[in-house]
Amino acid sequence: DHPVITIDGPAASGKSSVARLVARQRGAIYVNTGNMYRAMTWAVLDAGIDPADADAVRAAAATLQIQSPVVEGQTQVQVNGRTLTDADLNSDPVNRAVSHVARVPEVRDLLVAAQRALAAIGPLVMEGRDIGSVVFPDSPLKFYIDASEEVRAARRSAQGHTDQVAERDRLDSTRKTSPLVVPQGAIVIDNSHLTLEQAVQQVLSKLPN
Ligand code: CDP
Repeated sequence: DHPVITIDGPAASGKSSVARLVARQRGAIYVNTGNMYRAMTWAVLDAGIDPADADAVRAAAATLQIQSPVVEGQTQVQVNGRTLTDADLNSDPVNRAVSHVARVPEVRDLLVAAQRALAAIGPLVMEGRDIGSVVFPDSPLKFYIDASEEVRAARRSAQGHTDQVAERDRLDSTRKTSPLVVPQGAIVIDNSHLTLEQAVQQVLSKLPN
């Protein structure tokens, strides 16, 4: 398998922007695993299933086909052959439901397997909540991008979203399966007061040539 740079962190810490640019610099494929959980959530809602009903979510997940074709250097997400748009993935209903769907162990098993399989395609920069801790724990290239709660809430509202960032963090950090943690061996970057360029430089400066 190819090397994987892992980038984890809480909601709206800026990790997606950093990961995308690091991937471009390194000629790696950018993988946003949050979009895979969001796609699963979109499909659960589309099927009229209550996202808090873990049994129903589990049953639905087993019937869904989630695929991640690489398009222009990054993975897209398809559910049963349909490509979801950014608007689909970042809608308010998905924001409210995604941390409930992501708590279901069987959902995680399905998506983690798909994420691991991507390393056969090429070098990756993969971002999420459990990439350095669970998906690729043996990677020597792990980062954790953090930012203060105030800065994260401000970033999210600047993007025009009324997202319950604090509530998602609470759910993501306290769940039993693969809670958000600083992975062992990860380099922690506090992105509260860095520009995007500075944060990208910090990551690049830690990587071997
Ligand atoms: O963009 P933002 O950082 O706000 O969130 P995201 O990366 O799109 O992730 C959305 C949600 O998916 C998170 O709040 C987690 O509940 C879940 N997630 C996860 O459980 N594990 C991952 N590897 C990635 C996301």
